[in-house]
Amino acid sequence: MDFHYLFTIFFFFMLGERLLLADGFACNWGTRATHPLPPRIVVKLMKDNGFNKVKLFEADPGALEALGKSGIQVMVGIPNDMLANLASSVRAAEEWVSQNVSYYLSRKGVDIRYVAVGNEPFLKTYNNRFTQTTFPALQNIQAALIKAGLGRDVKATVPLNADVYDSGSGVPSGGNFRSDIHNLMVNLVKFLHDNGAPLTINIYPFLSLDADPNFPVDFAFFDGHATPVVDGSITYTNVFDANYDTLVAALEKNGFASLPIIIGEVGWPSDGAPNANPQMARRFNQGLINRINQGRGTPKRPNLPDIYLFSLIDEDAKSIDPGNFERHWGIFYFDGTIKYPLDLGRGRNLTAAKGVKYLPRQWCVMAPDADLMNPNLPERISFACTYADCTSLGYGSSCGGLDARSNASYAFNMYYQTMNQQRGACEQFQNMSVITRIDPSYRGGTCRFVIMIDTGRHEKARTSSAGKMNLGSVLAYWGVMMMALIVVI
Ligand SMILES: *[C@@H]1O[C@H](CO)[C@@H](O)[C@H](O)[C@H]1NC(C)=O
Ligand SMILES: *[C@@H]1O[C@H](CO)[C@@H](O)[C@H](O)[C@H]1NC(C)=O
Ligand SMILES: *[C@@H]1O[C@H](CO)[C@@H](O)[C@H](O)[C@H]1NC(C)=O
Ligand SMILES: *[C@@H]1O[C@H](CO)[C@@H](O)[C@H](O)[C@H]1NC(C)=O
Repeated sequence: MDFHYLFTIFFFFMLGERLLLADGFACNWGTRATHPLPPRIVVKLMKDNGFNKVKLFEADPGALEALGKSGIQVMVGIPNDMLANLASSVRAAEEWVSQNVSYYLSRKGVDIRYVAVGNEPFLKTYNNRFTQTTFPALQNIQAALIKAGLGRDVKATVPLNADVYDSGSGVPSGGNFRSDIHNLMVNLVKFLHDNGAPLTINIYPFLSLDADPNFPVDFAFFDGHATPVVDGSITYTNVFDANYDTLVAALEKNGFASLPIIIGEVGWPSDGAPNANPQMARRFNQGLINRINQGRGTPKRPNLPDIYLFSLIDEDAKSIDPGNFERHWGIFYFDGTIKYPLDLGRGRNLTAAKGVKYLPRQWCVMAPDADLMNPNLPERISFACTYADCTSLGYGSSCGGLDARSNASYAFNMYYQTMNQQRGACEQFQNMSVITRIDPSYRGGTCRFVIMIDTGRHEKARTSSAGKMNLGSVLAYWGVMMMALIVVI
């Protein structure tokens, strides 16, 4: 045995360790934004930050094209409003799989691994709107995948909110499926088991804290500062572990102790509520990333599941029914800039998006001589905030402490930017506004007066490099225009 042999063993040992550590992160990529980043920039952003798995909420053509041959594994979603159709017809499911899975896999080199059928369809707030259609849709999609020859490579699953289970005893070992959907859950889980597919669950410690003023804050985080919850021989120091093990207990009780689990969404918003700020988001997401890097699971399941961080980037056109924080889940702002530092392990920090093109550096603000007592002012602010995202102005949010003048300026500017700084956009405020080249952000500290992404220049760059306007970019362009229109309406 010579020295080289030992060296080779040592080398492969090191390599194995590196590969283990470099396994990478998973994230959600939502596209409900008035000015979405170009997909190729988002894919580069993921790769630069070590994300090698992504979940999409729909089979977005632009996103899927950009993911082709990227080395990133994809879970592609089906929105809830498509479930009824897919449930009622095997043909519809086959069409869907053919156009949104087979096509991208074989023609575009997209590494699709999962189809997510619906999104939290059993959420209590939906009042059973999707309880009849979800399981048949899952069955039809799974059958269509098998028929397309993809049964082994692509698995169908259903991302469910953690409210599909609860604990009668208040501790994880008491976990069972929610009584009103117990049979449905057992059938669904059995089907996943029979097809070798995982159960996908979204867990939100932030929502636990946000919903309950008596929730012990430290228990939401991973750093072990909370008073432990004792469950028999196990102690829990954070709600993520406790919640996950409640699910594991529910699976055990119903005979599926070893069903694989995926965490479809978990994260913390940075704005839009008193507990949503960059400090708390950083504390939570850093703890989560450390856990992923350690590969340490929960007391009942020592192997950590795949965890899809929610979310990669902010989306300023998301519904705010659940709360203003809905538009602020990204670890990056809408334009791929960094909100707060995160240590990704092995000396790596977050890296911002590259090659983003912006509109000119100018803002629309309240004119210095405009009268705060102008009776039209409240109505004009409300007009601006109807068409643009003012969620940062709310109580406890990053711009919640502004004086009345800066408050109006913030609203005017958001409107102006969302309208692409169009001529006339800053004239909607009846002589109360002016355009300035001095960044108004400095006054507020935490409050940022943004400059919007120049979607037009991104399109031009794409089409001139492609030599011609192809169908994809025409569609993407119209997509952006339609989104702008939807926001205007
Ligand atoms: C997927 O395929 C169907 C055909 O069944 C099509 O109508 C649908 O719009 C496609 N795209 C998405 C995002 O689901
Ligand atoms: C990462 O960011 C932290 C905090 O901003 C900084 O102190 C550190 O030097 C950075 N590390 C690297 C490797 O860039
Ligand atoms: C700022 O604007 C928001 C949004 O219209 C409004 O709700 C709030 O009362 C305003 N605050 C101040 C201090 O004017
Ligand atoms: C704005 O100012 C111009 C010129 O001072 C005036 O003619 C116009 O009536 C004003 N518009 C409104 C809506 O106050």
